[in-house]
Amino acid sequence: MRIRDLRADDPAEHDAAVALWHAAGLTRPWNDPRADLEQALAGPSSSVLVAVDDGGGLLGAVMLGHDGHRGWMYYLAAASRGRGIGRALVAAAEERLAPHVSTVQLMVRADNGAAAAFYDRLGYAPSDATVWQRVIHDDPARSASATLLG
Ligand SMILES: CC(C)(COP(=O)(O)OP(=O)(O)OC[C@H]1O[C@@H](n2cnc3c(N)ncnc32)[C@H](O)[C@@H]1OP(=O)(O)O)[C@@H](O)C(=O)NCCC(=O)NCCS
Repeated sequence: MRIRDLRADDPAEHDAAVALWHAAGLTRPWNDPRADLEQALAGPSSSVLVAVDDGGGLLGAVMLGHDGHRGWMYYLAAASRGRGIGRALVAAAEERLAPHVSTVQLMVRADNGAAAAFYDRLGYAPSDATVWQRVIHDDPARSASATLLG
């Protein structure tokens, strides 16, 4: 297994990552994982890392980025469980983020006890802070153009 950046110029790899995220149950009707992936690849402080086998087949993926204060991980998924793929992706994400931030964080959905157990095993713990949010618009095209404008 090898961890590397998802190839921005390989549409088949984009498709494979999005398919993996769907199969792993990470997507919701109100999210667009393909748009998220493209924005992460376009951003100066965000990336998508993949785990691949010797033949280049996708074994796992994670999206990551930092905002100057904290590092974030999203969309962590392993194509097959219990083989160390998730652990390797988190380690690679932490290594990528370490020059920029001292803390890495993520959100775990309340019903995803398996993910909570996985992160606990890796030394992560729930924060005292709660995540607050507000939907500021529901126009995907507007988010995409905002990215293009920087
Ligand atoms: C969460 C996920 C990425 C873990 O990946 P994985 O490759 O199966 O995990 P690993 O094999 O690297 O496991 C790493 C450690 O966590 C432990 N672990 C993994 N899943 C666990 C679980 N459900 N309960 C308890 N421990 C678990 C492993 O035993 C292993 O421990 P060890 O290395 O100390 O022996 C994977 O289960 C997955 O794709 N889940 C669906 C998507 C998801 O929920 N993503 C997280 C969104 S927040």
